[in-house]
Amino acid sequence: MGNWKLTTAQQPQALTREALAALRHGRAAGLSRRTLLRRSLGAGVALWLTETLAGTIGFMWPNLSSGFGSEVVLGTLDEVDAAPAVLGTSIRDGAPSYFQAARTFVLLIDPTRGFVPGASADGEGTNLNVRTLYQRCPHLGCKPNFCTKNYWFECPCHGSRYDRLGIKAEGFGPALRGLDWFAASVSADGVLTVNTAKITLGPLPVVLGQPGLIAPRTPTGCI
Ligand code: FES
Repeated sequence: MGNWKLTTAQQPQALTREALAALRHGRAAGLSRRTLLRRSLGAGVALWLTETLAGTIGFMWPNLSSGFGSEVVLGTLDEVDAAPAVLGTSIRDGAPSYFQAARTFVLLIDPTRGFVPGASADGEGTNLNVRTLYQRCPHLGCKPNFCTKNYWFECPCHGSRYDRLGIKAEGFGPALRGLDWFAASVSADGVLTVNTAKITLGPLPVVLGQPGLIAPRTPTGCI
């Protein structure tokens, strides 16, 4: 037998008016329901704010990093020529150069001439002698390939075909317009910059044999 005795943890109390008042105003042990609700609500709002902030930063990131969605400096004609879309071709021969970071094909409108300083807000580019095309097929978004056989773009998904400047050939695949254009500019020292934040929808298709569509170099293509 130990030399100790149990004591009652809490003596029963009579429910007098004072005892009830003390219970009503007293602080509950642990978390009260109200505190729990407040903390849950606070945590929910904090989570929402964090997600909103992360989403905003994610959306703006290309603009902050000079990638797709902002202005991208592509370089002089020689530098652009050093990035052919298809190895062994040259922009000086009418083939496209390609820049993954800008998702852009670059083409000389008249391959016998170089860039001309200036700006093309809609990307049509005749004044610059250069056109900057968005790589996305306007049908369902696939990336068209440049066919070195006929010098046309051909979409591998559903067969839409575009001439080398991105004009859609009427009757060749389901796309309803040509490849879209990015705004572009050429500085006085001949450096091309594409603005991938400014896009102009491509023009309507043109029937083969009509002005405005460059004929394919061969009757058959790559697909
Ligand atoms: Fe290019 Fe359908 S996505 S033709």
